[in-house]
Amino acid sequence: MAGRRIFNEQGAGAVLRFGLRVVSMRVRYGGDYNPEQWPREVWEQDVQLMQEAGVDLVTVGVFSWALLEPREGVFSFDWLRDVLDLLAGAGIGVDLATPTAAPPAWLSARYPDVLPIDPTGSRYSYGSRQAICVCSPNYRAKARAMVARLAAEVGSHPAVEMGHVHNEYACHVPYCYCDNHAKAFREWLAHRYGSLDNLNAAWGTTFWSQTYTDLDEVVPPRMTAAFVNPSLDLDYKRFCSDAFLEEFLEERTILKSARPDLAVTTNFMGFYRPLDYFQWAAHVDVVSTDNYADPADPEWPMYSAMHYDLSRGLNKDVPWMVMEQSASRVNWRSHNLPKQPGHMRAMSYQAVARGATGVLFFQWRASRAGAEKFHSAMVSHAGTASPVWAEVTELGSELASLDELENAPVEAKVAMVISWPSWWALEAPGQPSRDLLLADQLLWVYRPLYERGVTVDFCSPDERLDRYDAVIVPSLYLLSAGQAANLVSYVQAGGTVVASFWSGIVDECDSVYLGPYGGPLRPLMGCDVVDVAPLRSGETLELKWETGESGGGVFWADVIAECEGRVLARVTGGGLSGRPIVVESNYGDGRAYYVGSRLDAATTAHLFDLVPALRGDATSSRGGLAVERVVRAGPNWRYEFLINFAAEERELEVGAGGLELLTGVDVGPSVSLKPSGIVIIRHPVT
Ligand code: GAL
Repeated sequence: MAGRRIFNEQGAGAVLRFGLRVVSMRVRYGGDYNPEQWPREVWEQDVQLMQEAGVDLVTVGVFSWALLEPREGVFSFDWLRDVLDLLAGAGIGVDLATPTAAPPAWLSARYPDVLPIDPTGSRYSYGSRQAICVCSPNYRAKARAMVARLAAEVGSHPAVEMGHVHNEYACHVPYCYCDNHAKAFREWLAHRYGSLDNLNAAWGTTFWSQTYTDLDEVVPPRMTAAFVNPSLDLDYKRFCSDAFLEEFLEERTILKSARPDLAVTTNFMGFYRPLDYFQWAAHVDVVSTDNYADPADPEWPMYSAMHYDLSRGLNKDVPWMVMEQSASRVNWRSHNLPKQPGHMRAMSYQAVARGATGVLFFQWRASRAGAEKFHSAMVSHAGTASPVWAEVTELGSELASLDELENAPVEAKVAMVISWPSWWALEAPGQPSRDLLLADQLLWVYRPLYERGVTVDFCSPDERLDRYDAVIVPSLYLLSAGQAANLVSYVQAGGTVVASFWSGIVDECDSVYLGPYGGPLRPLMGCDVVDVAPLRSGETLELKWETGESGGGVFWADVIAECEGRVLARVTGGGLSGRPIVVESNYGDGRAYYVGSRLDAATTAHLFDLVPALRGDATSSRGGLAVERVVRAGPNWRYEFLINFAAEERELEVGAGGLELLTGVDVGPSVSLKPSGIVIIRHPVT
């Protein structure tokens, strides 16, 4: 669920490929459908209402293990078959879920090792969902049996279009510290390091007398007296992400062997720290994600945009979709504010603007009972009388007319590099500042780009970057030699990199690259970072650009010694006075900017103005958080999405204008957008 997860833990006739399977589609629309919570007479009504709302894809069965296997080894699929028949009869596609995120009570009661253990050695209880030890042989065997039976019984049902494995892997309990995990971790380590000597060397175990003489001495990072060895901790995070992935792959293989053409996904959670989604996304036919940006946060549009830019970037070779969002309120924050009228629609269009091929909700019908009964749904407790229903049906009918966007990818010329292992290592205890969080580093650079209407693709440091005009590298603390070579060769070939402090500090094992900081990234730095000096909260670093303007930084200062780069800005006060803080260097045919502090907003804007790709559309009136602008560019047309998040009407210039897709009316040279107003203007490619 989002608060816990964000940074903490095509119309009739159109055809879109979902992985291997070709499905006839528009922008898909629907949600989690949990008919098991309702008597059969409600199902008929559901299907009618779904047709009214333009729903054409529903996730079915995601939490229904206890009904599908009511007793160990006794299966019951008739009810599910009836549901699928009903949906197929109404032309509604099914995203068939495996129910393995919610093991039934009989399973946890009979095989307690399926329940995870916390770092102190306490076992979680059942009585909720997602209390899973993914290394439990009992859990694995029962999950395999369940999925095999599901695939055999209904996998080939004509309603089934997609396979939805599990639900939000690692949500609620991302780490288990049990003996089964310890055993599997040792096997993972043996495979990774080959010998105990290699492991001891990689983990720097001579520090604090941590040398291992037998692999069996290695234990998960359970509760320790002081900081746990950060290299161990890092590998444990890698291992836990891999362990969940292994279970996902097991389920996926079973689904695909029963039905090879099935497009398989599992719903991600945006910037969810415990799982390395770049690795995961390589194994899905569709990236899907759950977005619960908080309506109480005035910056929710930016958070939502960022979440979608990540989802699009995780695997650039497959489509992506929103698997879950809320129609209005959630029920798991301390105060669950509703979405304001128009915001659900605007957030849905943000997704479409940023390339989504589907917009789905949790959930179709609001529950009568259970932990989420006060969570909003497409059909509220008040039924069709709720204002949410009007919004839901309006959106459903609009999305049906957007099929021409299918071959129009999002235009993004700027990349932002992130890496999960680097995130894990960066936030381990024992850093120069305890407040060093990747989220803050990303927001520092993403926010001004969002405000300027610069669309960003999130990229892994392992992928080719040559399609981008500029690449931003915010505190990429852990960097392998290969990843650094990728960045360096991108610049050599003419690219532009903007890299911030605390990048290239350690290798894959979390050992420091000696010499001035930066390790294999140093060819792009143009200066020597000889030490670091974090600032106190509220403290500012004063600086002056070579062109005379003043500026400032917060949070951090590198101690920089000049070398071959051109110093663009220097510190002007305090102990670091006179030292470089922003340095530009030419490398090969390209250019790099190194930034030794978290520049304040105005100073960051000054820096970004120096880089053409980061300037955005300075001439437009669209700037600021108020109006979001994204372009999708096809072979013949460019589709300009404008979404007004301001509280008041905005008048915007749109050049020669063109056909507005939602109204079918020609607009231009200016358009007027009401609050939450949206236009999609089709411009010819010139
Ligand atoms: C998601 C989850 C759904 C539902 C929803 C509520 O995390 O996948 O099952 O719990 O949150 O916001």
